[in-house]
Amino acid sequence: MTQLPGRVAVVGGGRMGIGIAHSFAGPGSTVTVSETGDLDAARKRLEDSLTRAAERGKLPDGVDVVAGRVTFVGAIADLPSDVELVVEAVPEIPALKLEVLAAVEDVITEDAIIATNTSSLSPTELAVALDNPARFLGMHFFNPVPASQLVEIVRAEGSSESVVNEVVGWVELLGKTPIVVRDSPGFATSRLGVMLGLEAIRMLEEGVADAESIDRAMELGYRHPMGPLRSTDLVGLDIRLAVADYLHGRLGERFNPPQLLRDKVAAGEVGRKVGKGFYDW
Ligand SMILES: NC(=O)c1ccc[n+]([C@@H]2O[C@H](COP(=O)([O-])OP(=O)(O)OC[C@H]3O[C@@H](n4cnc5c(N)ncnc54)[C@H](O)[C@@H]3O)[C@@H](O)[C@H]2O)c1
Repeated sequence: MTQLPGRVAVVGGGRMGIGIAHSFAGPGSTVTVSETGDLDAARKRLEDSLTRAAERGKLPDGVDVVAGRVTFVGAIADLPSDVELVVEAVPEIPALKLEVLAAVEDVITEDAIIATNTSSLSPTELAVALDNPARFLGMHFFNPVPASQLVEIVRAEGSSESVVNEVVGWVELLGKTPIVVRDSPGFATSRLGVMLGLEAIRMLEEGVADAESIDRAMELGYRHPMGPLRSTDLVGLDIRLAVADYLHGRLGERFNPPQLLRDKVAAGEVGRKVGKGFYDW
């Protein structure tokens, strides 16, 4: 019978890494987080995340007990060697991820599973860092992790079937829903989400309707919780443009970013984080 891993490691204690640590520790795993930045700030992020969950009635064991299952270390070399799963959640920089994955493999036992939380890089290309790529796959969590239902499991070319199955079982035990996708640019989520956003921007550019009407079309007509332009504002137009450029290079002309998106990014109107995107925030 599948059981949640008793011992998990997370590399990178930023926004995603802390959410992932929270999601495993909540139902009982012991988690070690390796973070090269400010450890006190990372601890505070965990406490805040657990407190929010407790306030929503989503943390039956309570903040102190769950926080007590999480340990922080400053270096990958200090991770316990006997972890069953390592999730890498360092910034989206290929060279950094390759270096981190190789360092992880030097520390842990042969049968531990290694996952990357990359949102856009190819797990197959990252697997070159490892001696044993069969134990490696993508485990794409969404932000905020504790409240998000989906985990996109990305099967790299070399991932073994048993590793994919084991991770599917763990995701279900976390109370989340797994989907398994083959490693291809943008996976399932970004590829569809970005395409919808780009088409909405083209429609705005062509004067089909204003931003609010285009968003309402999807919210009320198709029951999307949020329209594609508002969602682009939240993600950040700069981030959307970078992903669209990447997908354009790999999947062709249909991902060519509209001029309006380029113009708004050049003007600094990159969305909610600066107070202006397709909407004023
Ligand atoms: N933010 C999102 O919405 C989101 C969603 C899905 C996936 N992702 C992916 O998750 C990953 C992390 O994103 P994030 O938003 O949490 O970034 P973040 O910048 O909040 O966190 C990254 C953390 O990694 C730490 N770090 C850097 N180098 C390290 C090293 N060598 N060892 C240990 N820690 C190290 C940094 O100090 C930082 O705290 C990226 O690959 C990103 O693409 C992000």
